[in-house]
Amino acid sequence: MCGIIGLVSKREVSSTLLEGLKRLEYRGYDSSGIATINNKKIERVRSKGNLSFLEEKLANISLPGKIGIGHTRWATHGSPEEKNAHPHITNKVAVVHNGIIENNNQLRNQLIEAGVKFSSDTDTEVVCHIITSYINSGLNAYDSIRATMNDVKGSYAFGVLILNEPDKLFAVRGGSPLAIGSARNENFIGSDTYSLSAYSDNITYLKDGDVAVIENDSFRVFDYSNSSVKREKQSIIESVSLSEKGIFKHFMSKEIHEQPEVIAKSLSNYIDMDKGVLNIPSLPYDFSTITNVTLVACGSSYYAGLIARDWFEKFTNVKVDVEIASEFRYREPPMVSNGLTIFISQSGETADTLAALKHCKSRGQKTISIVNVGDSSMCRDSDASLKIYAGPEIGVASTKAFTCQLVVLACLAIKIGTSNGSLSKEQEKEYVKSLLSIPRLISNTLDKEDEIIDLAHDLSNITTTLYLGRGQMYPVAMEGALKLKEISYVHAEGYPAGEMKHGPIALLEKDLPIFMIAPSNSLYEKTVSNLYEVIARDASVILLTDNEGLHNIGLIKNKIKTFLVDETDIISAPFVYTLPNQLIAYHIALLKGTDVDQPRNLAKSVTVE
Ligand code: G6P
Repeated sequence: MCGIIGLVSKREVSSTLLEGLKRLEYRGYDSSGIATINNKKIERVRSKGNLSFLEEKLANISLPGKIGIGHTRWATHGSPEEKNAHPHITNKVAVVHNGIIENNNQLRNQLIEAGVKFSSDTDTEVVCHIITSYINSGLNAYDSIRATMNDVKGSYAFGVLILNEPDKLFAVRGGSPLAIGSARNENFIGSDTYSLSAYSDNITYLKDGDVAVIENDSFRVFDYSNSSVKREKQSIIESVSLSEKGIFKHFMSKEIHEQPEVIAKSLSNYIDMDKGVLNIPSLPYDFSTITNVTLVACGSSYYAGLIARDWFEKFTNVKVDVEIASEFRYREPPMVSNGLTIFISQSGETADTLAALKHCKSRGQKTISIVNVGDSSMCRDSDASLKIYAGPEIGVASTKAFTCQLVVLACLAIKIGTSNGSLSKEQEKEYVKSLLSIPRLISNTLDKEDEIIDLAHDLSNITTTLYLGRGQMYPVAMEGALKLKEISYVHAEGYPAGEMKHGPIALLEKDLPIFMIAPSNSLYEKTVSNLYEVIARDASVILLTDNEGLHNIGLIKNKIKTFLVDETDIISAPFVYTLPNQLIAYHIALLKGTDVDQPRNLAKSVTVE
């Protein structure tokens, strides 16, 4: 949540800061701003709305300065208005912030009592005033920042400018990610590698408690005890150049269509293609001794975990729990000594998942993260990390990262199953064969996009819907409903088809659209019984199934709409049935005219609790 960029250079910085912010917009886009120090003054330009509004302002207002900070915001304290946009400033200090100051109210009241006037509703402004008050009391810039860190509670990363140190950029990390990128005659700060990769080929991650003092030709880092420390400089190996939309209207559409390719890439990293067996990099565990697996995640990544539960249970014979990170981290579930905890996250930065990871490590659990962003905090903090190789995902609603997470989860479940003797070599080969068929199967579904477009036209005025499925199709249904909610703002619920009669059935009325997801597998007949219950109440069914499923549907064939996919099995079904749901959500959103890649109120990387 929220993106921070900063630059101290020998050249003008504002246009580069704006470019850097474009790479961070996935973290929030309700307002943005840039501040510089120029001519012994802090200058600032801010705007409500996404970066195009700031860009428009900067085309007309010049913002000179060779040192500056920028921010793109996802609102926590204070509505998305210009007055709440960062940077927040006083006459001596400018601050950009990612995170939440938990004792904001208390600090704000103290400052108000001391006569401070606030101009925003944000927690960040509190920080700005506290630093200023320490400067006013005679402390130097570094000590003022340190003293402020002692006053605030919560999670934060700050970029700070201080007027009486006009050549120094200060970077502070206390729970939220922040890194430094170095280039010739200039140094950057940024919330992630992506924002820095355009300018620097190396990156230095700050640790919690660090304050970095950055000049254009060097920087120093001090840890929580004020000792000067050397943090490892890493090269940015992966090309993370800003993806172009190419022929696609939206990143989301591009990312949906990329799935055959990125899934194939992901598979090639975990499968020996010649031998048709797994080829997972060696992990620091003896999987045959694992007694419990816990999958922890948020959002779509959580649904990927729910789908994978089936694979882990069937292939490994060990007990499997799937947990929402924000709930799990505050419970006190008993943890067994040989438990393996797997953290699933596209960004690798989601605050709740990261906190759950730290909690599990402190409880002696074995930890593996499954991430897309390879040098993310989760990747660094877990004992081992498996990348999903989806490539940069820009659309806020996850699509290709979700299916690539499934690839790695399936491979890991098979790996543990063969390691503990639950799966034979033959079974491994059979499942690997099925995995390798997925790019072709989902390409076949993508080829039928026109049918989905027609369906979307029929459904463009819906205001509510249910997605129903059993077994693995239940989390597939939840992910389908989430996609629709996220980008078209249509109310949708994913529900276990068999549970519908215990409540949601009361919602059914004439023509209410209901998505039924029913591959012809062992649960097909049960799902179809539920479908009949829906039809009996005059609701309108859209059935996602295969040829055999359609053939076996019986008399009601003509009363329902159908979208057919290829025949699937336990491995391929969740992938193949996810695709139509992604496309339906996308095309309904298109017809509604919503901002598909930047849906309201959402952010791609949620680094606050
Ligand atoms: C946000 C995103 C979702 C994502 C979730 C978890 O809500 O909008 O698309 O699934 O965070 O993010 P993670 O990076 O941990 O997978």
